[in-house]
Amino acid sequence: MTAMCGIVGYVGDKSALEVVIEGLRRLEYRGYDSAGVALISSNGGSGTELATERRAGKLANLIGAIEERPLPAATTGMGHTRWATHGAPTDRNAHPHTDCTGRVAVIHNGIIENFAALRAELTAAGHPLSSDTDTEVVAHLLEAAYQDSDGDLAEALRRVCRRLEGAFTLVVVHADAPGVVVGARRNSPLVVGRGIGENFLASDVAAFIAHTRQAIELGQDQVVEIRADQISITNFDGTRAAVNEYHVDWDVSAAEKGGYDYFMLKEIAEQPRAVADTLLGRIGADGRLQLDEMRLSPDELREIDKIIVIACGTSFHAALIAKYAIEHWTRIPCEAELASEFRYRDPVLSRRTLVIVISQSGETMDTLMALRHAREQGSLVLAISNTNGSTIPRESDAVLYTHAGPEVAVASTKAFLTQLVAVYLVALYLGQLRGTNYGDELDDVILQLAAMPEKVEKVLETMEPVRELARSLAGERCVLFLGRHVGYPVALEGALKLKELAYMHAEGFAAGELKHGPIALIEQDLPVVVVVPSRQGRDVLHDKIVSNIQEIRARGAKTIVIAEEGDDAVVPYADMLIRIPPTPTLLQPLVATVPLQVFACELATAKGHEVDQPRNLAKSVTVE
Ligand code: G6P
Repeated sequence: MTAMCGIVGYVGDKSALEVVIEGLRRLEYRGYDSAGVALISSNGGSGTELATERRAGKLANLIGAIEERPLPAATTGMGHTRWATHGAPTDRNAHPHTDCTGRVAVIHNGIIENFAALRAELTAAGHPLSSDTDTEVVAHLLEAAYQDSDGDLAEALRRVCRRLEGAFTLVVVHADAPGVVVGARRNSPLVVGRGIGENFLASDVAAFIAHTRQAIELGQDQVVEIRADQISITNFDGTRAAVNEYHVDWDVSAAEKGGYDYFMLKEIAEQPRAVADTLLGRIGADGRLQLDEMRLSPDELREIDKIIVIACGTSFHAALIAKYAIEHWTRIPCEAELASEFRYRDPVLSRRTLVIVISQSGETMDTLMALRHAREQGSLVLAISNTNGSTIPRESDAVLYTHAGPEVAVASTKAFLTQLVAVYLVALYLGQLRGTNYGDELDDVILQLAAMPEKVEKVLETMEPVRELARSLAGERCVLFLGRHVGYPVALEGALKLKELAYMHAEGFAAGELKHGPIALIEQDLPVVVVVPSRQGRDVLHDKIVSNIQEIRARGAKTIVIAEEGDDAVVPYADMLIRIPPTPTLLQPLVATVPLQVFACELATAKGHEVDQPRNLAKSVTVE
């Protein structure tokens, strides 16, 4: 099975192989444990044939295989990069998969849940299945459906899709249908790129943005047929579908490394811009927030008596920070929860519960399932997402987009900062709307929020000592991270980054909890990163953490302290001091996270790891 993959389809007048490989390169962040292509070419006579190649491992392996054994010239084709769930990442399980006649090829992202039954049916009917994948059944089902549909590939795919359960993006080609690529989607992404004399299908616009910025969002349970000069979209039942075409407002350079060695470095550097873009147009001249775009009426929002913020991974850390901000500024009870846990504990939800789901990709299956559960229970769902037109915002009642631009590195950086901006905006907006006690504080925080891009920039300018420190710690086995209040999720995020990128044992703890167990881990020279809260209005918190630093240092820890400029109380206890600009407490994660990103990225690079594509991970995980 294939859970989370990159898909590209092309018909036009260019070399389909070149277009597809280039597209796959841009989608490699979606999965990179095997790759394959299928082309429809002339067989030298009057007929056409299917040519495929597939290889385990990164795209480079596939390219190497094609160089050794070139494929025929073709202007119709498709390609796939895979992130395996079930079925090892071998050549045999790589996509495309073909039918008995070798004339149909299928690539797939998702999981076909009823594949065992379909497989049994096909085996009984005499189809030899040669892989461990669910995808292969689609190729064999299409073989017959194509005959029954009188050679109409789109109709054949609609027939097959009606029999499938689960989540899938499918793209198919048939040797008897040169100049045609057909795609379908259910619970998994697929966009169409409209060119001139050429058209594209892809998991993400990044794959075709070098060729066209005109895109069409494919709806749930729809099939699209592209030819060089024609795009037709139908529902699974064959009826015509409404077409939602849009212009992509970022260009190809945004999807490339822009001179950096890694996307992650570029994305860290882009954070001031990403934060500014996410604030853009949302703070009025009078200092009041304008979030009408969310499509939630003030009346609806006034009714809310509970908020639950749900997400996975780094986005979950934004959810934890949201809890502090929302409760403080709105006085509405708020919980933060992992999407994968939420649905299964039978949460108490009502019409007056606002569920906020945070997802950079907008495709994370755990988060999508949580949102569906919340909606089924009648709760209002607000999505915070970075991906226009993705499934999570589409299925939510309301959406607030972050404007981080495309994030390619698997480990999230700029998307996280913009998620923080979005949750602050929502919390402050609710606070304004409900007229909580903190009117003046809210006005002040909004002003301070507007100043954050500059502060993030300032932090980035002072990162050289952090990089040096990271390199010096490349030989360590373990690093701990401590924080209090919103510094606690920041500590969790610092630890997650180090796990993801440097494959090191790293843990984040609430500093106050240390004495209840984790302090036993402290030994001579263990590096411990401490995020010190701002003194502004939170003196008690600040003083407590200064005591915590002393406690660990007394036990031999090497203390790496992140503290505001001018905070001298920490100086005597810091083996290494990282300064960040003074910021209101709740906004501090926007500046405190940045050194931790730089630290993890540099440490991983020093260890020789490829930071954009850490082992075993994928950027967007579309399985539960
Ligand atoms: C994956 C990524 C993480 C990301 C998480 C949530 O696990 O590796 O970096 O934070 O998914 O992704 P989302 O797109 O929902 O924010």
